[in-house]
Amino acid sequence: MQQVSTGRVVILGAGLAALYAALALAPRPVLLVSPDPVGQGASSAWAQGGVAAAMAQPDSPEAHAADTLRAGAGIVDPQVARSVTQEARDHILALTEIGAPFDRDSAGAYLLSREAAHGFARVVRVRGDQAGAEIMRALVAQLRLTPSVQVLEGYAATGLRAEAGRVTGVEVAPAAGGAPVLLSAPACLLAAGGSGGLYALTTNPARIRGEGAGMAARVGAMMADMEFVQFHPTAMDIGLDPAPLATEALRGEGAVLINRLGQRFMRGEHPDMELAPRDVVARAVYAQSQAGLRPMLDTREALGPRLTAEFPAVAEACAKAGIDPVTDPIPVAAAAHYHMGGVATDAAGRSSLAGLWACGEVASTGLHGANRLASNGLLEALVYARRCAADIAAELGGIAEAPALTLPAAAPGTLPDPQLVTRLRRAMTAGVGVVRTEAGMQAALREIAAVEAAQPGSPALRNMTATATLIAAAALTRRESRGAHFRTDTPHSTGETGQRSRMTLDAALALRDTLQKDPA
Ligand code: SIN
Repeated sequence: MQQVSTGRVVILGAGLAALYAALALAPRPVLLVSPDPVGQGASSAWAQGGVAAAMAQPDSPEAHAADTLRAGAGIVDPQVARSVTQEARDHILALTEIGAPFDRDSAGAYLLSREAAHGFARVVRVRGDQAGAEIMRALVAQLRLTPSVQVLEGYAATGLRAEAGRVTGVEVAPAAGGAPVLLSAPACLLAAGGSGGLYALTTNPARIRGEGAGMAARVGAMMADMEFVQFHPTAMDIGLDPAPLATEALRGEGAVLINRLGQRFMRGEHPDMELAPRDVVARAVYAQSQAGLRPMLDTREALGPRLTAEFPAVAEACAKAGIDPVTDPIPVAAAAHYHMGGVATDAAGRSSLAGLWACGEVASTGLHGANRLASNGLLEALVYARRCAADIAAELGGIAEAPALTLPAAAPGTLPDPQLVTRLRRAMTAGVGVVRTEAGMQAALREIAAVEAAQPGSPALRNMTATATLIAAAALTRRESRGAHFRTDTPHSTGETGQRSRMTLDAALALRDTLQKDPA
């Protein structure tokens, strides 16, 4: 493998966490590795809800932390929830300062949306469903004005290099195909997003397939809470991959869930009905789909023609599918949306390996527990991106000049076989989806192993199968149901509070190997 070296901090990813950290590190030289044109292709740009933050009385960071703990089903780290919710307001002000056009009234107060399991309307938003897109637009504009950040567009990381417990470099290759080059760097910040695309039905952009978490796991990083995958109950079921999202804010505005018989099926499921915690609503929607009852989101009475102006992304997706939400309900399904699990990190965003920090969805900080509270994802990304930047700066000390990096021309390389990726996604949905069984999880692990063995030369596929293996192995190991992890053989939690899980890839592979030796 060709080798080059840089004095720049390498950031893998180009979503909100990556960009915010790059800006916080300025004027320290940064190399931001972005597979797509920067600002595109990241989950953050698709986030419809916004950023949860207690902005004004009677809401408070304490109330926000309490809702985070409740939604997280007994395994949120209370100290993490307290500190993150305390910092939320400051990040909203910082984003406003750089031009994020949050909705405000004539007196300048922030307009807030209500989302499921929040005790207050506390989601800072932009024109209904435009928060992610507009925050990203503001950050990209700021990045373009920041000469310390070099963006390596069209490249993706395929692996990390570690020696004696320290990450020393990153393997990067052209995203369209090509052999990797080994890039040595003083620090690596992983901000490569989640793993929704490991599932057949997802709201995540196509490239978000757990590769970031997988490459950290492959060099021995400790992983946490990998079994907890959040399924969004109202992905539009209109035959598109990825499935467009119908934001939870619509339910906050009074939209209801019905089935093809016109029954409002959340009645009797939970006292908060459509605004119950996301895992509860997702399971109810899934059950309706499985029963052939075609769940739908009905916005007609609550929003009517207001939907087009107030939720432009939802209106556009409906128009593409030939649905007029003013006259017809929107078909929905539960789809993989957010991974609570990821690289285990401490309060500063450090992983278990020296030289490697992680923030955003790829990290598992302890904030989300078994079920993330809506719009806490962008908040966590902001808080930990800034903390990672500060910790990296403290570790590296004085700022040294680092010339712009030029990579040598890439030799030919191997892309993952799309048919194998499809097999992997089907296996995850069938075996480690909304409702899990012991036999289903075991079958998924066997299929993941078969997919991995079918193309051993593809590092990207290897990263995906590493994350998939960890999700399935952690799910099989947790012998209870909690939050988003629901298994039919143990449908209850073992207690109101529980333990977070921690697992290495070696441990997950050992479990997978046991099944291989002991076929069903
Ligand atoms: C939504 O808008 O429904 C999604 C918000 C989130 O996942 O935090």
